[in-house]
Amino acid sequence: MRKILIFDTTMRDGEQSPGCSMNTREKLEIARQLDRLGVDVIEAGFPVSSPDDFEAVQRVAAQTEHAAVAALCRAVKGDIDTAWEAVKQARRPRLHVFIATSDLHLEVKLGITRQQALEKIRECVSYARSLCPDVEFSAEDSTRSDREFLLECFNAAVDAGASTLNIADTVGYILPDEMYDLVSYIRQNVHCADQVVLSVHCHNDLGMAVANSLAALRAGAGQVEGSINGIGERAGNAALEEIIMALKTRENQLDMTTNINTREIYRTSKLVSTVIGVRIAPNKAVVGRNAFNHEAGIHQHGVLKNPLTYEIMSPESIGIYQSDMTLGKHSGRHAFVQRVEELGYTLSDEAMEKAFERFVSLADRKKNVTDKDIEAMVSALGYATPETYRLHSFVVNSGTVISATAVVKLIRNGEEIEHVARGDGPIDAAFKAIDRIVKEGYQLASYTIHSVTEGEDALGEVTVRLKKGGRIIVGRGLSTDIFEASLKAYINAINKAVG
Ligand code: KIV
Ligand code: ZN
Repeated sequence: MRKILIFDTTMRDGEQSPGCSMNTREKLEIARQLDRLGVDVIEAGFPVSSPDDFEAVQRVAAQTEHAAVAALCRAVKGDIDTAWEAVKQARRPRLHVFIATSDLHLEVKLGITRQQALEKIRECVSYARSLCPDVEFSAEDSTRSDREFLLECFNAAVDAGASTLNIADTVGYILPDEMYDLVSYIRQNVHCADQVVLSVHCHNDLGMAVANSLAALRAGAGQVEGSINGIGERAGNAALEEIIMALKTRENQLDMTTNINTREIYRTSKLVSTVIGVRIAPNKAVVGRNAFNHEAGIHQHGVLKNPLTYEIMSPESIGIYQSDMTLGKHSGRHAFVQRVEELGYTLSDEAMEKAFERFVSLADRKKNVTDKDIEAMVSALGYATPETYRLHSFVVNSGTVISATAVVKLIRNGEEIEHVARGDGPIDAAFKAIDRIVKEGYQLASYTIHSVTEGEDALGEVTVRLKKGGRIIVGRGLSTDIFEASLKAYINAINKAVG
């Protein structure tokens, strides 16, 4: 079987999508999980784009044990220097140099001729190669580029030392059979075809990113790029979990395999969704809430007799372990730790202590603590934000005949600070009271709430997005009391902002 390399760009192309920003702490946790998942390359960011991105790439590079760590750079010497500075500490560093190759991009965006683009490729790829042994060259907008010119660009990149050539469907324009032809053409004609890896990078504007990626792999591409949950510019990138499970489920037909431990897929998907505060559509392939739910009686009957009737892959194969086991207030520390570990979480002693504290307080309020509750409690612990502010207590007063008021008391560096505010509803009042304490002037950009499990005592999960300047900060709070969950989410976002 052909081994396909999986290149993850969740933290670069994925993070570029609106409202999907991640801080360094969160990126480090995602990178750890991607390494556990077994991706071959982690694209950690675009270092020249901001000091935060630079720092995140540098720290991901320093911590990553198995995967290669890539840093993106334009075909500009300054970009390459910055990217190299950020990634050079990695065990396996990669410089990812790109330039657009379609006439439209060359003329309108870059204002250069084809000849000038070729010169930049030669100059910049060989410069990158003089710094780093592993250089990937991407032709942005490959799929709307003139084929012969695209081939010339790839040949220039190979001659200058690139070992991976990436065909980018930047605007999600190509059709699967066209992609098959394009990859076949490049593969048959490019210099040193058996020594370079052909890669594909598809966007999902017409909903064909995964189909196009698979077509490219069938035509001989050896690396596929994408993101977890398909996050990315506009309609997103190819969803890696879908490509990986297609390769696994149809392994016999496709004759390809990967280094991925598919049992880590679900946890990776959840982590990304929690960090960016964007919920996964219930009908999303592979990782959506309904992907393994059977509603129709005929289907349920079939699945009970033999899951293969309506399931082409098992929930366990992506790391969803169904269990009816619940914990309660009489479950001790040992049972809790065991369950957390059975669910596949590896927590530091400090994080486990914190998780157990949360469990004890939840078990006081909720009769049965389920796996979903435990997952919700522990999933964010690996990248917990230092708590500059902590919720001490609150009182909210609201109704149809009075205006809502809230009194909130927070603790900052051991000092208790209390404020009262009126608002348009109790949550607005409570957020305003917090604003008075913090005095930073954040604007609430969005607020969502959902219940982690069913039932009256369900754990509520609130996600807020705060805006200040051009920056969006996501906060998350959990509690069986939705006011408390809301306040915790708001404070969590503020802690991230001030931290
Ligand atoms: O979509 C694109 O063209 C890219 C390149 C930088 C690879 O993201
Ligand atoms: Zn892209």
